[in-house]
Amino acid sequence: MIIGMTYDLKSDWALSPDDPHDANAEFDKPRTVERIIEALEKGGHTVKKIGNVRNLLTQMDHLDVDIVFNICEGKQGRNRESQVPLLLEMRGIPFIGADALSLGMTLDKVIAKKMFISEGIPTPRFFVARDHDDLKALNDIGFPLIVKTRHEGSSKGISSNSRVTDYESLKRQVHLIHTRYRQSALVEEFIRGTEYTVPVLGNDEPQAMPVVQVSIGGNTELGDDFYTYERVSAGGVRYVCPAKISPELTKKMQELAVRAYQCVECRDVGRVDFRVDEKGNPYVLEINPLPTLDPDESFNIFPKVIGSNYDEILNKIVNFALERYGLIDKKYMEQSTAELPR
Ligand SMILES: Nc1ncnc2c1ncn2[C@@H]1O[C@H](COP(=O)(O)OP(=O)(O)O)[C@@H](O)[C@H]1O
Ligand SMILES: [Mg+2]
Repeated sequence: MIIGMTYDLKSDWALSPDDPHDANAEFDKPRTVERIIEALEKGGHTVKKIGNVRNLLTQMDHLDVDIVFNICEGKQGRNRESQVPLLLEMRGIPFIGADALSLGMTLDKVIAKKMFISEGIPTPRFFVARDHDDLKALNDIGFPLIVKTRHEGSSKGISSNSRVTDYESLKRQVHLIHTRYRQSALVEEFIRGTEYTVPVLGNDEPQAMPVVQVSIGGNTELGDDFYTYERVSAGGVRYVCPAKISPELTKKMQELAVRAYQCVECRDVGRVDFRVDEKGNPYVLEINPLPTLDPDESFNIFPKVIGSNYDEILNKIVNFALERYGLIDKKYMEQSTAELPR
């Protein structure tokens, strides 16, 4: 197959003076794009680099690819992840991964949480706040809280000040999200405990991969600790896989991960983030239909636990998409996914 590749490099978009310091956090490093291309080429494909949405727009009439591998995050707005899939859909060009609707629904964490709640998937209690008037909802939840951006990823907007235990700090953080990140804040009950992420692959019967546990500063018992943009950038976050947890908790999170994936109609690939409280109750924080494929992250870690590797997993993702579009044989798919854990 000829696979077009759409991506945003950190260097593609210049920061403006009004942008927060972490504005480029979600874009990829050239090394990640090269590593994905290497994996797809090992799978026998030819890869054509397209680049970001602006490049796609100029190439729309002469793309000449069978399918597109899309990891674009987009520059701005809560539909930024949907822009490339929407253009491809408009032209009838097949692409790997979630469509525009699922990407919009999940980038906006508030919409995703409403979907989870409607399906009985546990997620931390929350309210949305723009200004002081919205803070009355606090009475239903109480402190401690975490104040997050509503539609960003990669811990953008999350610093050590994001966990708040008093009214003044809450007000300050909501104001910061509103003015600096130009969106309303998602205020959530802070889940004291541990943290995990669960990759999911597939379509008709999506399968949860091994649970990956988050370790910060060498510690998996996070308690009040959490991911911040600074911590991730400084390499302070590590992963333990398989997570050293009971088979029951593993099963619970894997089941919830698949339900969350189905609930927002993810396709081919996704990754669900969890916190687990001190009583052992898991909560879905969010689902990422465009999980990072950075070779230093979870997608290069969990494959080893199932006797696979990065290259094989990426090609399975491609095959799930090809199967969806009827571009490969069902029998071939059954053989190629036989070794995934069931
Ligand atoms: N309700 C919460 N309780 C405790 N920690 C949280 C909560 N929500 C987010 N965090 C911390 O902030 C990090 C980023 O939050 P998340 O909702 O996954 O957004 P994103 O990864 O898109 O930036 C999480 O990995 C976790 O460490
Ligand atoms: Mg997350």
